[in-house]
Amino acid sequence: MEKRQELYAGKAKSVFATDDPDRLILHFRDDTSAFDGRRMESLARKGKVNNRFNAFIMGKLAEAGIPTHFEELLSDTECVVKNLDMLPVECVVRNIAAGSLVKTLGVEEGSELDPPTFQLFLKNDELHDPMINESLAETFGWATPEQLAEMKALTFRVNEVLKQLFADGGLLLVDYKLEFGVFQGQIVLGDEFSPDGCRLWDAETREKLDKDRFRQGLGGVIEAYEEVGRRIGVSFD
Ligand code: C5P
Repeated sequence: MEKRQELYAGKAKSVFATDDPDRLILHFRDDTSAFDGRRMESLARKGKVNNRFNAFIMGKLAEAGIPTHFEELLSDTECVVKNLDMLPVECVVRNIAAGSLVKTLGVEEGSELDPPTFQLFLKNDELHDPMINESLAETFGWATPEQLAEMKALTFRVNEVLKQLFADGGLLLVDYKLEFGVFQGQIVLGDEFSPDGCRLWDAETREKLDKDRFRQGLGGVIEAYEEVGRRIGVSFD
């Protein structure tokens, strides 16, 4: 497969075309951003750590029967994925209250959410990714009701697989964000799953081991990602 022109540079990843119109190359950079890109920093090893982490998780999800765009690792910082038509919505499942839920609803951080809750956000930096709902998504054509139902079901299935995987490593999966796209008529998981897009706490101490370390200036960001990876069996060599 031949790598061709850069199609898009996001805040942490770049997307390249290939000679196969159905395949893209994702390049995980060391760049880290928070607050809709207003804070940017380069963190050594991040691209490699997230590329390996994502490959491991996508493999586990595929084993569990969840359709993902991931095809294969290409290099330390690159992987090959299916070329999806991405839907501009972010699907979030929360098991424990944190982040924007705490801010917007005044819930106490750390309270258990039973049953876990599901939220939709519009992927739009300028509007700061506002919270939306199924009705708005349908009206504005961001996704059809059928697509929304499928994304919601898949996002909850991911919860079952990953809650257990992280629990086995002594970690709590607090919340996470997924993005989906359409490939040959099917809803498929896209983007990435890494500690950049989820919250993971040590089950005993509740120490934060995810991107909140960057957002809150706690330091040791990549060391925390590597610690999480080691606990669940990701190889970074
Ligand atoms: O900020 P909030 O609490 O709504 O985030 C919920 C989850 O979604 C967190 O794990 C966060 O890292 C992730 N997220 C993300 N990208 C965004 C918004 C949220 O990865 N643009």
